Amino acid sequence: MTEKKIDLEKFAAFCKTRGFVYASSEIYGGFSAVFDYGHYGTLLKDNIAKAWKKSMVQERDDVYALDSAIFMHPTAWVASGHVDSFDDPQVDCRNCQNRFRADHILEEFGINADKAPIDVINAELDALRHEDKIKCPVCGSKDITEAKRFSLMVKSNMGSPIDKLSEENVVYLRPETCGGIYLQYKNVVESLHPKLPFGIAQVGKAFRNEIVARQFIFRTREFEQMEMQYFLHPDVMKESYDSWKEYRWNWYLEYGIPAENIHWYKHEKLAHYASEAYDIEYNFTSLNGFKEVEGFHARGNYDLTQHAKFSGAKLEFFDDTRNEKFLPHIMETSAGLGRLFFMFLDNAYTEEEVNGETRIVLKLDKRLAPVKVAILPLMKKDGLADKAKDIVTMLRKNIEGIVEYDERGSIGKRYRRQDEIGTPICVTVDYDTMSDNTVTIRDRDTMEQVRVSIEDLLSKI
Ligand code: GAP
Repeated sequence: MTEKKIDLEKFAAFCKTRGFVYASSEIYGGFSAVFDYGHYGTLLKDNIAKAWKKSMVQERDDVYALDSAIFMHPTAWVASGHVDSFDDPQVDCRNCQNRFRADHILEEFGINADKAPIDVINAELDALRHEDKIKCPVCGSKDITEAKRFSLMVKSNMGSPIDKLSEENVVYLRPETCGGIYLQYKNVVESLHPKLPFGIAQVGKAFRNEIVARQFIFRTREFEQMEMQYFLHPDVMKESYDSWKEYRWNWYLEYGIPAENIHWYKHEKLAHYASEAYDIEYNFTSLNGFKEVEGFHARGNYDLTQHAKFSGAKLEFFDDTRNEKFLPHIMETSAGLGRLFFMFLDNAYTEEEVNGETRIVLKLDKRLAPVKVAILPLMKKDGLADKAKDIVTMLRKNIEGIVEYDERGSIGKRYRRQDEIGTPICVTVDYDTMSDNTVTIRDRDTMEQVRVSIEDLLSKI
């Protein structure tokens, strides 16, 4: 029997005990909505980012890589509109002091308040209050405040007052990575001389002062984004938007996400500069439903217009094929690396009954698996460990990715350990190996074992 269902608590415990994800600052009692990635978590996350970069940069002629700094000139965030209006509607419970997203409370009653003005949100809350329907999701109290705007920008201070970055030396930790792309667009054009349309892609940290973050790593205050901004002439926006949607959709399928577990969500309420916005949502078993993992936004030329206005820089592009000078429009794809990590683990997590026992196995795509192959000597003695270590050395020289050596515990327990971190192949060195130079290869998913000579091992793997 195969079972894929897992609740969030059990899933978080699994991630901790198998070295994927730890709560931040746990010995100090934890730090809300911040998480650290352990050994296998770091390896898996790196492999996902690598798979994204392979598809977004390596396999294309029209997308350039960038790694821009987290800190940017504070005026850039005024220009982008974030300082004034990157916020969520917040309500507080006066009884238990917990804070909630007002739009999430309305969502419970089937009211979509996404991007709604604060007075509209308060009118909806009042109507529910009159029907005696509003209560605190934690303590049940009806003493809930009016909604107010809460800025998601995380502030810090930098340098000495003499620098005069701003009156209080305020800097912001970027709330999205694309800001750095807009600011480097001019340098990319002048140094790499791209033709339109072209994209700039980067993976990096972003920070948001989220009001509520209670779904493990789904919504955190520090997270990583993988964003690509595609600069184009507005005439080709529709065609480009559709083709990127298809391109990214196929990436999910290529890495083992079943088509029936993802769908498109179309945003009806758009930011004033956007002409279209869709999300890819994945059906999280441990979150009981479809949730956003990646957004696609047709942003017009809002970003370059604002940065040209506030910086005074000339950001028009001269398109020699059209003989036209204009501010390019932008089509963006933006995926959360932590969300994709969560999605791939959620999708891979499987419990199977084998000989009356439960086997937990992560059926990850082999390219994403944290460990590519594990080498297990049946016994430590009689030269088996040394033979196994020779194979490890040979494989580490010849394959990309992690080759793990494990000699702890019974062979059965070692297989289970590797299954639980998703290692596609285990190689066992036994007494026959010493006489005939063959080893056993065990497949993670089928558990089938075949005998191969060490000479052929590399090609088999
Ligand atoms: N530049 C566009 C942008 O940032 P977004 O929809 O706010 O758009 C894009 O974010 C993606 O970033 C989301 O689809 C999600 O995967 C991820 N993301 C956003 N906020 C997050 C958070 N607090 N924790 C984890 N991931 C987050």
